[in-house]
Amino acid sequence: MEVEEIKLKDLKPEEFIGHRVKEISSAVGSGLAINALSGGVDSSAVTLLGHKALGDRLKTYFIENGLMREGEPERVASLFEKLDIQVEIIDARKEFFEALKGLTDPEEKREAITQAFYRDVFSRIVKESGAKHLLHGTIYTDVEETIAGIKRQHNILEQLGIDTEKAYGYKILEPLVQLRKPAVREVAKALGLPEEIYNRMPFPGPALTARVLGEVTPERIEIVRKATKIVEEELANTGAFQYFAILHANKVTGMREGKRDYGSQIEVRCWDTKDAVTASPTKLPHETLDKLAQRITSEMPGVVSVTYNITRKPPSMMEVV
Ligand code: XMP
Repeated sequence: MEVEEIKLKDLKPEEFIGHRVKEISSAVGSGLAINALSGGVDSSAVTLLGHKALGDRLKTYFIENGLMREGEPERVASLFEKLDIQVEIIDARKEFFEALKGLTDPEEKREAITQAFYRDVFSRIVKESGAKHLLHGTIYTDVEETIAGIKRQHNILEQLGIDTEKAYGYKILEPLVQLRKPAVREVAKALGLPEEIYNRMPFPGPALTARVLGEVTPERIEIVRKATKIVEEELANTGAFQYFAILHANKVTGMREGKRDYGSQIEVRCWDTKDAVTASPTKLPHETLDKLAQRITSEMPGVVSVTYNITRKPPSMMEVV
């Protein structure tokens, strides 16, 4: 692997920011660059680095792919408006759901997201904007897991030998690629991002697709989105690294009001980990689990089963797709 890690103990955030800002300025020259902001710590840090380097010559977009958590596009745009950064929301729901149609294989779903993002939506925006560079929030762990062949992270292209200029018509700059998440959080804090961003729970690039087993449709995303909201509300005070809901592919037999009810199955995962390389399920009190099951099945009539994952990583992964 060519990328050299900058360890948290060796990181000098101000110095790091200075270097990356210079690099971005000289790479982009007098041209334009664009970036996609999801509201996670990585893309938020990249947005601020890019704006420091380029000012208004960086155009920031929030791609509304229909796969994000409830209220995210508006929340993120208004948060960055407070930092004087304009974020344009692009409605790309149709492109993403079309790309995902009929797919059930995890790697095929990841590939579909990559293609919809880079080839369809981003190429179009780049062409319209005249930008020659795309700033991206790839971090060291993304490269590591992709190269190791564990799973394809959607933002890895050049490390896989894909020439983005040839394939899509733009160059990718990855200013955070030498950092792992804790170091990115330090940089984000030094950049002046609010705590709700620099300490935010991780959320995967393929978004809720990573939490839907089987086909990804708008209806199935809506189910996992609702369950995610409940899980995030109920587990907010656990101090866990990450907690979320998963929609299983198969329906299961249940009963409601004395009648058979064949409904969906939601799995809840909640992880304790330092670095996401190994992880263990949080030992949640039974009352908490019971409340989760009660809320999910009563607020979501189509769901008849809620389970809690008790497996460590490895052999489990934190996400299911
Ligand atoms: P896994 O499932 O690999 O998750 O054990 C480890 C951490 O990485 C996040 N994750 C992703 N993040 N793109 C991302 O940006 C991805 O494709 C992706 N897959 C997993 C996951 O949420 C967890 O924090």
